[in-house]
Amino acid sequence: MRTIAVINQKGGVGKTTTAVNLAAALVRAGQRVLLIDLDPQSHATLHVGIELGSEDRTIYDVLVRGAAIAETARLVDDRLTVVPAHLDLVAAEIELADQPERETVLARALQAYHEHYDLMIIDCAPSLGLLSVNALAAVDEVFIPLQPHFLALQGLSKLLETVTMVRDALRPALRVSGVVFCMSESATRLAQEIYGDVEQFVRSAEPETAWAGAIVFNTRIRRNIKLAECPSFGKTIFEYAAGSHGAEDYRTLAAEVLAMAQPTTARSMPESAVLPRNPSAAASAAV
Ligand SMILES: Nc1ncnc2c1ncn2[C@@H]1O[C@H](COP(=O)(O)OP(=O)(O)OP(=O)(O)O)[C@@H](O)[C@H]1O
Ligand SMILES: [Mg+2]
Repeated sequence: MRTIAVINQKGGVGKTTTAVNLAAALVRAGQRVLLIDLDPQSHATLHVGIELGSEDRTIYDVLVRGAAIAETARLVDDRLTVVPAHLDLVAAEIELADQPERETVLARALQAYHEHYDLMIIDCAPSLGLLSVNALAAVDEVFIPLQPHFLALQGLSKLLETVTMVRDALRPALRVSGVVFCMSESATRLAQEIYGDVEQFVRSAEPETAWAGAIVFNTRIRRNIKLAECPSFGKTIFEYAAGSHGAEDYRTLAAEVLAMAQPTTARSMPESAVLPRNPSAAASAAV
């Protein structure tokens, strides 16, 4: 299983939009994907249309109460499984604080699932706290979404420092493998300069750094109103507007992601081990 964290502590740069729609595009390319919402804002959960009941378990239960991933996972599409989040995840940082090995709780919870999926994607919160450290300790690859803005690179050194720290202490295979520009407006000169600066920065990485060998994806996700609209319908861009620029861009990005490395062969998770997107709705539909 390829394991990818979509992370940038800067808010609103396109992490969730990328995690959800890249996952959906990869599914359409035949991959079995596990998407984990690791953000208390629960935007990825809402984006895929999961409605949580008060008894439903989430990633919080995995991290704090030792629940199995399978107890929380929802089958959203044939090959897309989502582990949802809820606002209560805010408390996890504090509740985990005095647990031993608190940085690797997620990595350990995921160990049993490596052969069930081709790819796992984690949508991270805009922070570099314990939740994000858990994400980094659970993956081999980091994708960094950036907006081609004046302040795009601000904070990047702190993020790269954190990735390096987690690599050195917890996850030797961890590396930044890709940078993806989101909400791209290639017509502006400023944007062109930023694309150039980021390319240059990545190309000149010293071999021992955690971002050596990273690529800036050729696919830039254009600003597209359909991408902004689809979360409120609980749909991915492919369910909402399959012919839009947004769908086209995430489809192209998925092809680039798959070209980066051979996906591993995987067996699918037994269906009984995952709940449908909305179990109660599915149950009533079945009656
Ligand atoms: N390519 C795009 N075109 C238009 N709107 C976009 C695009 N990508 C993201 N958006 C919108 O921009 C806003 C921020 O995007 P998103 O939620 O993906 O960012 P984020 O990095 O996950 O934010 P946060 O840090 O709060 O988790 C959202 O309203 C989203 O719908
Ligand atoms: Mg988000």
